[in-house]
Amino acid sequence: MRIVSGIQPTGNLHLGNYLGAIRNWVRMQDAMDADSQCLFFLADLHAISMPHVPAELNAATLEMAAALVACGIDPDRSILFNQAQVPAHAELQWLLNGTARMGWLSRMTQFKDKSGKNREGASVALFTYPVLQAADVLLYQASHVPVGEDQKQHLELARDVAQKFNNDFCTEDAPVFTLPDPIIPPEAARIMSLRDGTAKMSKSDPSEMSRISLTDDADTIMQKVRKAKTDAEPLPSEKAGLEGRPEAANLVGIYATMAGTDVESVLRDFGGEGFGKFKPALGELLAEQLGPISARFSELKSDRESLDAILARGALKAREIARPTLDAAYKALGLVRG
Ligand code: TYM
Repeated sequence: MRIVSGIQPTGNLHLGNYLGAIRNWVRMQDAMDADSQCLFFLADLHAISMPHVPAELNAATLEMAAALVACGIDPDRSILFNQAQVPAHAELQWLLNGTARMGWLSRMTQFKDKSGKNREGASVALFTYPVLQAADVLLYQASHVPVGEDQKQHLELARDVAQKFNNDFCTEDAPVFTLPDPIIPPEAARIMSLRDGTAKMSKSDPSEMSRISLTDDADTIMQKVRKAKTDAEPLPSEKAGLEGRPEAANLVGIYATMAGTDVESVLRDFGGEGFGKFKPALGELLAEQLGPISARFSELKSDRESLDAILARGALKAREIARPTLDAAYKALGLVRG
């Protein structure tokens, strides 16, 4: 089993990233047997698909590495690195550009969302972004890719690219690429904004009040939860009663995931109660669980030397694993390399 996943080092790690993906990364790492391997990386190459400030990206990359370690990614057991230190990602992307189809990329909802009305002005990188993402996982023969729901479409594209490449350039008994399976957590697949239950919690939302960040202290968490948008009704005692109440459903879903239980059981405890009672309980639960992560993060983030060393060591291992697949892809395409 090879587990591979990435996160963009833009902005702070937020609750959506944590519950949708990172917590699963840690669980998979902790459950790993001797034949398995976990590779987790900072998608810094993806981050340049949008306008960015170079010094900020540099600092954010190291900070995100610290955040992942604070969440429980152990660089001695998992391979933790950033794409920019493993040139094979960019190389394989170019090789796969010959296989990916314009039509496939045109259907990607992320490109439509992020380019907005200014499609002509969007970077080429934003358009070919999913091909780099396919390269990220195919390069390592990933069998499983733990992600939130929003990355499902990109993973489907990675499978399409792998399948077409194998069909077009390989014999049936010697495919170059493994088709990866996405692993999406059922309860926390899509954590929504605290200001709008129909929009996902995201780093790009201009309002800090829309998300809980890993760096938030207990007071800030309590305040953000207290001010979270809700309706005026008390909580229902059955799950069906959350239908048509996206904000309430989101908060109950967050509570259930943080408490390691399900929505039904949260509603058994809080059904009939108003948000005046539920919100402080949720705030406390979040503050209690995120507190230790936040404290560890504060310690780690200023130790640039250790973080540099962790990423360099991870990149070395990643380059080694990537090499045979990259070589096989060049060969399958008939490229002469001496
Ligand atoms: P990114 O950096 O936007 O998010 C990192 C991970 O967090 C998940 N996530 C969420 N899950 C639930 N609810 C939310 N509100 C929420 N917001 C974010 C994402 O699904 C993701 O798993 N393109 C990717 C990074 C990437 C990647 C890859 C992922 C690059 N190459 C290869 C997997 C495999 C991205 O921008 O994720």
